[in-house]
Amino acid sequence: MKTIIAPSILACDFARLGEEVASVTRAGADWIHCDVMDGHLVDNISFGSAFVEAVAHHTNQPLDVHLMISQPDRYLERYLPVANSVDIHVEAEADVAETLRRIRAGGRKAGLALNPGTSIDSIEPYLDQFDILLIMTVEPGFGGQPFIEAMLPKIRRATQLRTKAGLSFDITVDGGIKVATARQCQEAGANVMVAGTSVFRATDRRAEIAALR
Ligand code: DX5
Ligand code: ZN
Repeated sequence: MKTIIAPSILACDFARLGEEVASVTRAGADWIHCDVMDGHLVDNISFGSAFVEAVAHHTNQPLDVHLMISQPDRYLERYLPVANSVDIHVEAEADVAETLRRIRAGGRKAGLALNPGTSIDSIEPYLDQFDILLIMTVEPGFGGQPFIEAMLPKIRRATQLRTKAGLSFDITVDGGIKVATARQCQEAGANVMVAGTSVFRATDRRAEIAALR
């Protein structure tokens, strides 16, 4: 599968949002990953739909909206117009199947995200209902954390499940992704690399994105 590099704007300079989004777009970003947090599902608050709309004004690349919120069904409609894909958490207080269905009905790719402590078995009821499986490789909520190596077997297991089911969903890894960990994740079967700190703190963003790929 094609490798996709998705810089996470959580790590950018919010005061220079437009320039930062344009910069990673020029540097070769395939998708722009937007981390929406509500202070309930995760212990942090980031930004909401007005901010994501502002991001959309500075790139032509697809926006991957990661909803780390406990009620994605309640706020979904605000993101569908600007998103290319919307990732919701299996741990959310929502009817997961119904929310995935609504994302697809809105013409967007539906993503299902899993926290590090959540078993891969939790995706089985939804196997043919999502287009992206997002495996958190840190505890969600903050950028700049170290990659959790113990997630590699989970990525391999997801890859096996996908083959066994004859499906073709993307496998995203999110958290602590830099060149070395991106390689490990790709070897395990992941193809979408979300990278915040490594891309935005790089002296040469273009070279960093190429290296991650
Ligand atoms: C974590 C977010 C990630 C985060 C990744 O809660 O979902 O997308 O921004 O940041 P880095 O790449 O710095 O680990
Ligand atoms: Zn994310």
